[in-house]
Amino acid sequence: MGLKDKLMELQQKALEEISSAEDLKKINDIRVNLLGKKGPITEVLRGMRDLPKEERPNVGSFANKVRDELTNAITERKDRIEALKTAKRLEEEKIDVTLPGVPVKAGQPHIIMQVIDQIEKLFLGMGYQVVDGPEIEEDHYNFEMMNLPKDHPARDMQDTFYLTDNNLLMRTQTSPVQARTMEKHDFSKGPLKMISPGKVYRRDTDDATHSHQFHQIEGLVLDKHITMADLKGTLQLIARTIFGEEREIRLRPSYFPFTEPSVEVDVSCFKCNGNGCSVCKDTGWIEVLGAGMVHPNVLKISGIDADVYGGFAFGLGPDRFAMLKYGVDDIREFYLNDVRFLKQFSQRG
Ligand code: DAH
Repeated sequence: MGLKDKLMELQQKALEEISSAEDLKKINDIRVNLLGKKGPITEVLRGMRDLPKEERPNVGSFANKVRDELTNAITERKDRIEALKTAKRLEEEKIDVTLPGVPVKAGQPHIIMQVIDQIEKLFLGMGYQVVDGPEIEEDHYNFEMMNLPKDHPARDMQDTFYLTDNNLLMRTQTSPVQARTMEKHDFSKGPLKMISPGKVYRRDTDDATHSHQFHQIEGLVLDKHITMADLKGTLQLIARTIFGEEREIRLRPSYFPFTEPSVEVDVSCFKCNGNGCSVCKDTGWIEVLGAGMVHPNVLKISGIDADVYGGFAFGLGPDRFAMLKYGVDDIREFYLNDVRFLKQFSQRG
């Protein structure tokens, strides 16, 4: 067989091999084998030495033509393989934007936060400011400024977690935020109207009705000419917002060191409408919060003229409110974070 025939046969075979190559590695191997220094084309060209001189240019240019055509075929096949690969990837990664989405599970505010939010909304609507205070508090604010000097017997009403020394403690009540706000208030800018929700801590043993950590919302209004009727109207609004429009309240005399007079506030039973049931222990009334007219001593300690300014204060427990409203009989449920319990209070139904 002449060299030309050999080359044609070789080209034929190589073209078949190229067109059946399926991946880039294969096509690269073909290129190296076919066109490399040890490849068959080089081999054929080497055989030209034995040809008569006049035939050499003819066979030489034919060999170059075969090499060029094979090189082109390899490049084309390589481009094709790459294009197929891209097309396949695009097909695989295709996203059907018309498919229905996977629902995202959304959380919800904790039931205690829902009660706090409701009360905040009520008071923001009446022009109160919502104030935050520190949970690690000074004895000075938690007790002394609230008319509870060191060794005052009423300190025993609130078992306290003291920190490092006797001056720092976990606040036992939100009342210190009253003191912090009074201290800074400028009456030339208007009356003081604030609420302060937050966590408080007591050295109690946890049981169904006690938790060493729970919540309070403090309220304070100071101005000229504030009376107990203002207090009663405000408390009635709270009771009706949380427990329903038909609720009545009643005030019973009580004692708090920071108010005089002090009252315990009962709401008419929302379960039996005052007829008597297990929730109100057959009295028709449920105790819900403490309140009173701010003690002149508290005003004086904060540098406020008690002959000119006065007002009312109250402290309520969102935990107790939620327990009553939803019939939860163990306060510890609120702090276990069992989603099955918390989900019952979903606002989304
Ligand atoms: N600080 C009181 C407590 O923790 C609750 C309280 C009662 C707050 C009467 C008040 C108030 O501001 O006037 O028991």
